[in-house]
Amino acid sequence: MSITERDKQYIWHPYTQMHTAADAIGIQRGKGTMLYGEDGKEYIDAVSSWWVNLHGHAHPYIAEAIARQARELEQVIFAGFSHEPAVRLAEMLLPHLPDNQARIFYSDNGSTAVEAALKMALQYFDNKGEKRRTFIAFRDAYHGDTFGSMSVSARGVFTQPFHSLLFDVAFVDTPTPGNEETCLQQFKKALGSGDIAGFIFEPLVLGSAGMLMYRPDILDQLIGLAQEQEVICIADEVFTGFGRTGKMFACDYLNHKPDIMCFSKGITGGFIPLGVTSSTQKIYEAFLSADKMKMLFHGHSYTANPLACAAAVASLEVFEQEKTAGKIEGIVESHKAFAESIAGNPKAGNVRQTGTIVAFDFTTEENNSYLNSIRDRLYDFYIESGIVLRPLGNTVYVLPPYCITETELQRVYEVIKASLAKF
Ligand SMILES: Cc1ncc(COP(=O)(O)O)c(C=O)c1O
Repeated sequence: MSITERDKQYIWHPYTQMHTAADAIGIQRGKGTMLYGEDGKEYIDAVSSWWVNLHGHAHPYIAEAIARQARELEQVIFAGFSHEPAVRLAEMLLPHLPDNQARIFYSDNGSTAVEAALKMALQYFDNKGEKRRTFIAFRDAYHGDTFGSMSVSARGVFTQPFHSLLFDVAFVDTPTPGNEETCLQQFKKALGSGDIAGFIFEPLVLGSAGMLMYRPDILDQLIGLAQEQEVICIADEVFTGFGRTGKMFACDYLNHKPDIMCFSKGITGGFIPLGVTSSTQKIYEAFLSADKMKMLFHGHSYTANPLACAAAVASLEVFEQEKTAGKIEGIVESHKAFAESIAGNPKAGNVRQTGTIVAFDFTTEENNSYLNSIRDRLYDFYIESGIVLRPLGNTVYVLPPYCITETELQRVYEVIKASLAKF
């Protein structure tokens, strides 16, 4: 039996209406940007497999680093013990981060990196004996699927069945072009409550909301206002980190520095799940005490898994070895030309780009919901054309691994243009 047939009997897939979804495509192997199906079909992975892959599938250098680590030490409890890949990764990562980031806390995915950040912020004030309990977040935010991360995310289709169980958040309008002023007013009002512990944001691009983009200067202003009141600013770089926005981190576009940062997805080059929450020394020190009740009450069984850390170290080395910054620049330039070429097309609304992410909204008669049927028709068309593109509602976006060749990228653009002509 094929992978697809066996899958159908036992597997429950994420974000999938199993009753109506097409059968899952069985993938046998990957190489570079390409995914190879068991039925002999080939696909260009133009969404980096849910935004995780950086240097290409089955990258031999990262694969070898994981294999080497697996023969040495596969896992060790991370309370009371440490290991080389965890320490090495912290040493390598910190110099890339804003210089106020001092401590690395490990977990094992993006949602848990956010959970740890929220708990750090809340317990920071608790440890100091200050009563601050509320977070500010953008109205369209997406920070993950666990209850804390859902709470600071948009009240929308993803969270609807759980609304009554989510904690209250001070939501402000996302400062997309035209909304900056209302965002700012709402933000100042929220800060006025005096109860704000933290401000959590996806810097520059809100991914799951539909690649909503906004300017760095407005974010700088918000962080400045928040930090005047000692509100902890949490940059969720789970999606934007590791080059997606053109610079290593989206926060590199800012003058103000966040207090806490969250990373996952691309951190291991897309090989193994890993979460990182970094913090300032000041936040870390608020947990130091003779009183055990002041320790950070958070941890996961697979915290700092050595294989994941070894993959992340190898991925950072690949950035140097393969001059990935140059590849990113190439994608940015190609995206620019593509964006210009479709900007006049009436079917392509709000064409926008931040770094290696290019997006537009497919103009349709239907309402612009994530559950829109144009999304399914476009998805099927792209798959039939051998391209993995996964529109968010009617938002089509391209987010390729950095190893994508110019020929592959042009093929992706061509197929998108064909979809604009067809639908
Ligand atoms: C900005 C952001 N934060 C957090 C998450 C959650 O990460 P994970 O899916 O690894 O739990 C995502 C996932 O898409 C994300 O885009």
